[in-house]
Amino acid sequence: MDFGIKVGTPVKQRGDCIIMGVFESRKLTDPAKILDKATDEYISGILRQGDMEGKANTTLLLHNVPNTLCKRVLLIGLGKEQEFGDKAYLDAIRAAFNALHKTGSVDATFFLTDVPVKEKDDAWKISQAVIIGIQSIYRFDSLKSKSEENKPRLRKITLNIADNSQLGACKEAIQQGQAIAHGINVAKDLGNLAANVCTPTYLAKQAKNMAKTHKLKVSVLAQKDMEKLGMGALLSVAQGSRQPAKLIVAEYQGRAKMEKPVVLVGKGVTFDTGGISLKPAANMDEMKYDMCGAASVLGTLTAIAELKLPINIVGIIPATENMPDGNATKPGDVVTSMSGQTIEVLNTDAEGRLILCDALTYAERYKPDAVIDIATLTGACVIALGHVATGLISNNNELAQELLHAADDVNDRAWQMPLWDDYQDLLKSNFADMANIGGRAAGTITAGCFLSRFTKKYRWAHLDIAGTAWNSGKEKGSTGRPVPLLTQFLIARANAASE
Ligand code: BES
Ligand code: MN
Ligand code: ZN
Repeated sequence: MDFGIKVGTPVKQRGDCIIMGVFESRKLTDPAKILDKATDEYISGILRQGDMEGKANTTLLLHNVPNTLCKRVLLIGLGKEQEFGDKAYLDAIRAAFNALHKTGSVDATFFLTDVPVKEKDDAWKISQAVIIGIQSIYRFDSLKSKSEENKPRLRKITLNIADNSQLGACKEAIQQGQAIAHGINVAKDLGNLAANVCTPTYLAKQAKNMAKTHKLKVSVLAQKDMEKLGMGALLSVAQGSRQPAKLIVAEYQGRAKMEKPVVLVGKGVTFDTGGISLKPAANMDEMKYDMCGAASVLGTLTAIAELKLPINIVGIIPATENMPDGNATKPGDVVTSMSGQTIEVLNTDAEGRLILCDALTYAERYKPDAVIDIATLTGACVIALGHVATGLISNNNELAQELLHAADDVNDRAWQMPLWDDYQDLLKSNFADMANIGGRAAGTITAGCFLSRFTKKYRWAHLDIAGTAWNSGKEKGSTGRPVPLLTQFLIARANAASE
């Protein structure tokens, strides 16, 4: 899908479809008013007949509108004008793409990106429209014997803006939107793959392939290497699996080598059965998504490399399965992490933190400016925040604020939870330095507390994406989150550093 920008009017606009907004009740947006006049009030006439109120998420498709040179005019309900904020705008853009795909249009011009949105500028409206547009044609059919029919035909999108004043920023916004959307697609594809395909070895291979197409340096540590490093926590998860664990390291260098990198650590459990602390059968298939943290790291690196951002980034992915087996770790086993701290594994289903803690210790060698880990870590996070916000925990408030800002900016929400010492006692073990679980209460926070014991040497933030990385039910599928959040965070950092 190609995107362009233009400053123009809908009058005499050629093409397959032009798209206009209508507020409640039957109030035309400025571009729609201009078109209405040119069509001798054809459009307002139809609204007066009662065909459209302008309610949010409604659409009306018109053909052969008099005095126009385009095949179709698509009207989108925007809801109440006083309430037209970011969510209403995004809903309208989504509704527009959905309706467009049902037509035979190959090209379309949007007169929605020029409608004022509370507290948002043109560049924001443009990049969000690009992301939604590309997402609307995402299909995952690589595991079907025949690719799906009814492939979207839409190819060329022109986004109209009200004036020239932000043209440069809008052009940049198209590129950023495209890069984020491509990163989302990479993360979605990896997440959606079945776990018999997407193994730790497969993830490593994909990372190696990425190194060929983008400017990345990728190395993969095998189990022997991890043994030498003393990664006893990570390996204790892998020991029940026939699939060998991998530690994937991908380096992107956009600045001088001496510049400290941002390190992204992504949980890559390619399937989580729970291990000996076996999970119940219902919906266990969804534990193929337990590598979505890893997928978001590879997706973000794709976006960053595409934008050639002036920043250094290291992606670290501990990848393994968590399986029950004669050789699997048992509840009560004590393992020694790379940091030297010992851990009593009271529940083998709390495996994410065990692989992350060694990866976080490994991250020290990059002398990071900041480390962010991304993990489908706790079911408790889904209970606390639902499927709307990613859970955020950090040992540095400035870093947390940066992430929260980026999250709001790209509508990939996150919400901070406390990392107070008061919670640390819940991890007490009678037999080791700590236990790997803290009981049912505050499950997301105690998981964060566990990780914080391995991140004392740098600024660190943890993103729990258990509720946001994929959708369940009829629309089951990976969301690609938090690629937008991470990419936006890194764009803002790169901008701040070069100012
Ligand atoms: N991968 C799961 C977390 C998860 C569960 C994400 C459900 C999304 C939906 C993680 O490895 C896990 O099993 N966590 C346990 C921790 C508990 C044993 C302390 C959980 O949340 O139940
Ligand atoms: Mn688990
Ligand atoms: Zn897990």
